[in-house]
Amino acid sequence: MPDCILALESSCDETAAAICTLDGTLLASSISSQADIHRRYGGVVPEVASRNHILHVRPLVEEVLAQAKITLDDCAAFAATSGPGLVSSLLIGTSMAKSLAVTTGRPYLAVNHMEGHLLSPFIGANGPVRPCIALIVSGGHTMLVKVRAVGDYQLLGRTRDDAAGEAFDKIAKMIGLPYPGGPEIDKSARTGNPKAFDFPRSFLDGRSLEFSFSGLKTAVLYELPKLDLTQPQIIADLSASVQEAIVEVLVEKLLLAAQVHQEKLITVSGGVSCNAHLRSRLQKGASKAGLELLLAEPALCTDNAGMIAFTAAQRFRQGHTSPIETDVDPNLSIISS
Ligand code: KG4
Ligand code: ZN
Repeated sequence: MPDCILALESSCDETAAAICTLDGTLLASSISSQADIHRRYGGVVPEVASRNHILHVRPLVEEVLAQAKITLDDCAAFAATSGPGLVSSLLIGTSMAKSLAVTTGRPYLAVNHMEGHLLSPFIGANGPVRPCIALIVSGGHTMLVKVRAVGDYQLLGRTRDDAAGEAFDKIAKMIGLPYPGGPEIDKSARTGNPKAFDFPRSFLDGRSLEFSFSGLKTAVLYELPKLDLTQPQIIADLSASVQEAIVEVLVEKLLLAAQVHQEKLITVSGGVSCNAHLRSRLQKGASKAGLELLLAEPALCTDNAGMIAFTAAQRFRQGHTSPIETDVDPNLSIISS
């Protein structure tokens, strides 16, 4: 009886494959990162990403099958990220998953990348997905979502301009740090003073659950001509102050959302949730407010196929499969209503 799902992720610049059991236990996960290639250009170049996905997707399928010690026959379904993301990148993973589905006669599942991030804190958490307030902080999205059950999501707030990861990346570029900027700021901030610069925190109207990070970017831009950016301590202080401004807003809005919606469980996922300072502030904030906090494991915060396999398994158990003609959608949303 086939009891596994093989999933592929290729929405942006990471090619990834993973296998999990139908009950959501991750058996294998592998990622081929293109960060070193795109660093030269200071950001992701879609054509280059797509060509590299083609090169890596098949070896990754073979690698995870070997890691999980299973064959294609053990797969009950094949899944891939169908959006949001870059069309030319999404097409590679979805085409491979569809080919595997057709050749084995098993179903195909199109998975929403953001739902993958949303559910990733529950991987390995020993239990079913539970109602919670979820903060998703990635390179393209910053969202607060009320999760009632798998597939039942209410958007509470999102960013009006830049996503948190985008703010980290753009500001890092402005101060001369390499792409992707988030992990660089995280590292550089460790020796910096978070109070060195008093950058604005955009809380909007106080009770708002929306975000805005473009003002922070502008404030940093105005500060730069006054500074000597060849001084490592200045870069460290800028990094720590920028990080503090972003983290403070993220933590406060998540705690506010939990209070307003009277929810006891909060979760955080997406690339930015790798950030060490964010994780520590969340732990302190949650314990002070008497909330349970679930964070995605660092390896499952940035783009990976484990979260896609896990989400596909949840959906498959609910009886969902996708028609083979399901197209990719660069703007796919997780909010159905
Ligand atoms: O979820 P993800 O891998 O891709 C998207 O779906 O966008 O998120 C990537 C984002 C990038 O903006 C990257 O700079 C940020 O996550 N990021 C971090 C850290 N690690 C990754 N931001 C802050 N601190 C980190 N340690
Ligand atoms: Zn992502």
